[in-house]
Amino acid sequence: MSGQLLQEKTAIVTGAASGMGKAIAKLFADEGANVILADLNKEAAVSVAQELPQGKGHAVQTDVADDTSVAALVKETLEAYGSIDVLVNCAGVPQAFTPIEELTLEQWDRILSVNTKSIFLTTRYAVPHMKEKGKGSIINIASIAGIRARPGLNAYCASKGAAIMLSKALAIELAPFQIRVNVINPGPAETPMLGKFINGDEAEVEAGKKDIFISSVPLGMLIQPEDIAQAALYLATDLSKIVTGEVMNVDGGRGI
Ligand SMILES: NC(=O)c1ccc[n+]([C@@H]2O[C@H](COP(=O)([O-])OP(=O)(O)OC[C@H]3O[C@@H](n4cnc5c(N)ncnc54)[C@H](O)[C@@H]3O)[C@@H](O)[C@H]2O)c1
Repeated sequence: MSGQLLQEKTAIVTGAASGMGKAIAKLFADEGANVILADLNKEAAVSVAQELPQGKGHAVQTDVADDTSVAALVKETLEAYGSIDVLVNCAGVPQAFTPIEELTLEQWDRILSVNTKSIFLTTRYAVPHMKEKGKGSIINIASIAGIRARPGLNAYCASKGAAIMLSKALAIELAPFQIRVNVINPGPAETPMLGKFINGDEAEVEAGKKDIFISSVPLGMLIQPEDIAQAALYLATDLSKIVTGEVMNVDGGRGI
């Protein structure tokens, strides 16, 4: 698919070096957007940028959990393309199943920082520019785990639940400025992250994907990164101009 839905728009996509972020970056660029690929993994982000149409991708090494790094990301975006129309917060870290008494403070802090604090940081730096333009779309990739818990994913579920509520709070706060804030909750998805939710060797991880994840999806299959990209495209464009504060489960029915 290739079109004009994001012609002359600039989108920041965090976590764009892999999985869903990569699929979002590719689809947005195919639809005409300039895409800033913000990821901790610079090498992989550069490689994805090179796959995009000429001049449409610009990789920026970013730690979304770090205030200085996020400030630099927004500065570099404005220098490269002069605008921020769409912000997709997709970067995230998983949690291997861990009993609460074994979860370390460092693990808790890291998961909450990358999955939740990052939304606060990117939003606070991007919003002044969106307010100036009188328009913007912010899309936060949370998780079906933010509304439907699994045992042992304590910090991860908390991080995504908080991301959802933060998004709603921002949607109501930013509506007067025509800045829309929406959430996508992916279900279990076929990306490098999925196996990392399971503790064990390769065979146990493969078995777990089938027994734990595929079997929990009523439609009987894993979500593809492209499924998330299509939903993000809808939320990024004027096709969804009256939609804000929405939480869209793209999950094969897992959240029912
Ligand atoms: N895969 C799933 O089953 C699933 C399900 C529901 C929600 N999600 C969420 O979807 C989002 C995308 O996940 P994915 O499956 O594509 O994962 P992925 O592991 O394929 O990609 C995540 C990307 O985020 C980047 N990243 C991690 N920490 C970062 C940081 N501090 N700063 C910048 N970049 C960082 C990684 O380098 C990687 O490129 C995440 O927020 C994840 O929590 C995933």
